[in-house]
Amino acid sequence: MEQQPASVFLSLQESALGLTMRNSPALYPVVEILHIIGFVVLVGSIVALDLRILGLGRAIPIQPMAQLLLPLSRAGFLLAVSMGFLLFSADASHVVRNPAFQAKLLLIATALVTVVIAHAGPWRQVALWGNKAPGSARALALASLVLWLGAVCAGRLIAYL
Ligand code: HEM
Repeated sequence: MEQQPASVFLSLQESALGLTMRNSPALYPVVEILHIIGFVVLVGSIVALDLRILGLGRAIPIQPMAQLLLPLSRAGFLLAVSMGFLLFSADASHVVRNPAFQAKLLLIATALVTVVIAHAGPWRQVALWGNKAPGSARALALASLVLWLGAVCAGRLIAYL
């Protein structure tokens, strides 16, 4: 017998929010566009900073670059997650069982763990780095690059699975 989705997802899908997202022809595409803008700003700024930490663009000092890109990545994250939740509410009981969606959330969660480790660890000494990041920061930057780009790939595959 097919496994029933947890009722919390069915209640979200049948809630006023889920119904509004499904029944308003313009709302879903607008929210999806905002979702895309959110993760483009998020992943774009993270990829640029991670590549700098990995050694690209050595003429650009790391700390001022981070001061520009980190707030941007936070804003992009908040937009991507809030709009993503709205998209999810429209069809929660099905999307929650989508392996690409599950993989995306796992990649995002793991990427957030690398953010916490980075900021609790090597980034505390960023002012002392000069123009070359320490090995620990480069390893975390490589992991972050793979995880966030992986989340984008998984996100795109949601529609196909
Ligand atoms: C924060 C990092 C996130 C990234 C990088 C991301 C990335 C993506 C990508 C690349 C797509 C495909 C867009 C398209 O091709 O049209 C997508 C779709 C989607 N995302 Fe996200 N997403 C993120 C967060 C979330 C969250 C937190 C949720 C829900 C809780 C979510 C729910 C969805 C849903 C439901 C779709 C499918 C939309 C559709 O096909 O109609 N996303 N996401």
